[in-house]
Amino acid sequence: MLSQLEELRERALHDLEAATTVESLEQWRLAYLGRRGQLTTVLRGLGQLSPEERPAVGRVANTIKNALEQAYEERAETLRQAALAEELERGALDVRLPGRPQRLGYLHPSTQTLREIYAIFAQMGFQVLRSGEVEDDATNFQLLNLPPDHPARDMWSTFYLNQPGLLLRTHTSPGQIHAMRRFHPEPIRVILPGKCYRYEQVTQRHEFQFYQVEGLAIGYNITMADLKGTLVHFARQMFGAERRLRFRPSYFPFTEPSAEADMDCIICEGQGCPLCKYTGWLEILGCGMVHPTVLRNGGYDPDVYSGFAFGMGPERITMLKHGIADIRSFFANDLRFLQQFG
Ligand code: DAH
Repeated sequence: MLSQLEELRERALHDLEAATTVESLEQWRLAYLGRRGQLTTVLRGLGQLSPEERPAVGRVANTIKNALEQAYEERAETLRQAALAEELERGALDVRLPGRPQRLGYLHPSTQTLREIYAIFAQMGFQVLRSGEVEDDATNFQLLNLPPDHPARDMWSTFYLNQPGLLLRTHTSPGQIHAMRRFHPEPIRVILPGKCYRYEQVTQRHEFQFYQVEGLAIGYNITMADLKGTLVHFARQMFGAERRLRFRPSYFPFTEPSAEADMDCIICEGQGCPLCKYTGWLEILGCGMVHPTVLRNGGYDPDVYSGFAFGMGPERITMLKHGIADIRSFFANDLRFLQQFG
């Protein structure tokens, strides 16, 4: 029995040497140490031995069992290390290769234009002030010299909220009231940017949502010449040093006099082309001298103060600058459009 055990030990260790894969190692374990393995079978046979023989054989059998288990563990560890080394070798990471660049996002074309506008007006001392997209009727209309039922309200198709008196601002002009009431009696130079909404059929030239940038300057002895100088500087910074502006008389309830500013066409330089509809001019914004009633509503005495205001659409500015035909592109979220501005 003892020699049988010894022989089993030698055979097992010999076989173990041959186990070079995880699978063959497992087969070896089953063959020797498993529930039906050879050593287990021997151990079970101990019961048949005489009580005198049993302790000695049992001891040897246990020693062998421990030795085989330990040999198994060592072999398994060797195989694990080998597998790891091989895997590292195979998928070797060559740190000398340059990494894959992370693609950075970029700003929406409207945002890019907005920031250009802020920067240009910042040169002239205008700071940015924001107010909410939900506005009350008083601030969006009445305080801007548009009483209820005033026919000029037709210029702004409006989204009204369920709560009476509230609406989505149709323009950034209510920001003028917020600015005046906040800074009164100090002189003011602000840019009022933000989203506006109108209840309109969406077409190539109209969106129900769009940005506006309003400008407001209030102080002593501010004249139309200041308005013109400011806007000419803006147009030349934005569209090129050779740009010219033309001021056409117009009507807005919150300015008097009011004007619309046209810029000589950037494509044909005034010769006439499809972009300017053969007029040579591109309309870029509305403007005027702040109406006395509006000044008063903001807390400024029109006999002491004067001011100018203007309002422009950054989408329109962007369309002119980049020859974009359809304003809907700005909000369609089509990457083929957006990625051109990356
Ligand atoms: N709020 C006007 C609009 O949405 C644009 C405008 C015109 C703003 C003249 C002004 C202004 O500040 O003076 O159509």
